Amino acid sequence: MAGGDRWLSAAANKGRLEGKIALVTGGASGLGKAAAHEFIQEGAHAVILADINSKLGPEMAHELGPKAHFVHCDVAVEDSLAAAVDAAVARHGRLDVMLNSAGVVGPLSPATSQLASLDLDQFDAVMSVNVRGTLAGIKHATRVMAPSPAIAGAGDGDGTGGGSIICMASISGVLGGLGTYPYSVSKFAIAGVVKAAAAELSRLGVRVNAISPYAVPTPMVVGQFSTMLGGPTVADEAQVAAMIRGLGELRGATCEAVDIAKAAVYLASDDAKYVSGHNLVVDGGFTSYKNMNLPFPTKQQE
Ligand SMILES: NC(=O)c1ccc[n+]([C@@H]2O[C@H](COP(=O)([O-])OP(=O)(O)OC[C@H]3O[C@@H](n4cnc5c(N)ncnc54)[C@H](O)[C@@H]3O)[C@@H](O)[C@H]2O)c1
Repeated sequence: MAGGDRWLSAAANKGRLEGKIALVTGGASGLGKAAAHEFIQEGAHAVILADINSKLGPEMAHELGPKAHFVHCDVAVEDSLAAAVDAAVARHGRLDVMLNSAGVVGPLSPATSQLASLDLDQFDAVMSVNVRGTLAGIKHATRVMAPSPAIAGAGDGDGTGGGSIICMASISGVLGGLGTYPYSVSKFAIAGVVKAAAAELSRLGVRVNAISPYAVPTPMVVGQFSTMLGGPTVADEAQVAAMIRGLGELRGATCEAVDIAKAAVYLASDDAKYVSGHNLVVDGGFTSYKNMNLPFPTKQQE
């Protein structure tokens, strides 16, 4: 269906994010884009795609329809992130939802996957986007959602809080061994930042939560798996994506971008009005258990 028609019909239905203003870092691609799409479907008034990719960003905003627009933003540069938040407020009067989805995985090599040869400059590069960028996102969203910490209960007064901040962590920040050191440490840190921030933000009427997705074949993850598998050609990308979809544990379902987007809708919405400091793990149970692979005797053939 053509983009414009889809958005017009969605706008006619009352959604769970009716009238809200949302900013999505990393909104030009993958999970951020999927969330932006779902936010609009759920009635958001405006969704700002704040991304470093100035080519893809405007294209995606166009594809998402008139409620989406793009601002260039590098989350690793605080002034750039602050300017994106300020632009959202200048244009729409306020910010209700901030989804920090911008992230990088970094290269895969012994310099990132073996401690003895760990390259700390590469570590810093991933941390500056994933952790510093997320922290800066929380900081500047808070600045506009709860303008004065001195005001007790700076929220909107109806018990729903002054805003919802959502940060994309990962199952690589729930269990060790699933990602490189820079990526895994950065994702553990994001879940920690959310807990630390919730302590202060609860008193300001702002909710802050994390989502920890299982593997979804976005450009980031397909690229990473392709490298792990020896760098298949573009023609093999569909095969790599199919392989990633087949990795899950939950029978009868695969983890898709829309599953993460719907988790973001929930945390952004007033359905989650009393949920803060939570890490919503969307992994089909993957990080919840291990099998012991007990050596059960095999039944003798009769
Ligand atoms: N896809 C998965 O399986 C998966 C699983 C767990 C967590 N995540 C997390 O979800 C988030 C989104 O990843 P994705 O899979 O959609 O990847 P993606 O590469 O499709 O999208 C990431 C987006 O972030 C943007 N970005 C990168 N650096 C930026 C910067 N400095 N400033 C602003 N924007 C920047 C990119 O341009 C891109 O549009 C990331 O934080 C990632 O770690 C993804």
